[in-house]
Amino acid sequence: MTQTVTIKVNGQVRALELTPQASLLHVLRNDFELNGAKYGCGLGECGACTVLVDHQPARSCVIPALGVGGRSITTLEGLPLLNAQTSLDPLHPVQRAFIDAQGTQCGYCLNGMIMMTVALLLKNAQPSRQEMLDALSGNLCRCGAHVEILKAVELSVQYTRQLDGVRDAQVAQLAKSSSVPLQPGMKQGTTHGQTLDQTLDQTWGKAP
Ligand code: FES
Ligand code: FES
Repeated sequence: MTQTVTIKVNGQVRALELTPQASLLHVLRNDFELNGAKYGCGLGECGACTVLVDHQPARSCVIPALGVGGRSITTLEGLPLLNAQTSLDPLHPVQRAFIDAQGTQCGYCLNGMIMMTVALLLKNAQPSRQEMLDALSGNLCRCGAHVEILKAVELSVQYTRQLDGVRDAQVAQLAKSSSVPLQPGMKQGTTHGQTLDQTLDQTWGKAP
């Protein structure tokens, strides 16, 4: 028996008729045609299918799609939109860092590594090496590209901070040229985590 659920992915809202067995990963790949999240183990153990659900990393292969009605889903494809107003780069800084550091081999784990790095930086703009290792420890890489992946995470921190600097400069310029007081979330010196978290809400709006 099917049920109707309204799912919001990267700001796009769709009402779908789904069976209770349909996983979020299945819906993302088949209904939304977003193939960033990969099917690896299908058991919640490898991390290849990671997405953000209400800004938290989640393994979409084991999440029933009927359970995410009213939640905000962000996939790999949605990341570039988060900094579209701040950067001319068509990619999110974490995506750019993984390319520049060549943090992948076959690429199957790449989605999960990038999404976990984004989730880490949402909470902690300046993670230690150990915190990086801890954040990604549950994501498997069968190619053994761990050294390059760690370098990519370190470069992600650097690129993200650079983008924060651009954002702060834009906000400072706005403050200088306007008599309108800055809105909450537009303060200078906010951490990347706070700013990006707010950007998620501002970009996607509230959950349906
Ligand atoms: S495919 Fe989801 S955790 Fe492996
Ligand atoms: S690069 Fe192949 S699984 Fe990680």
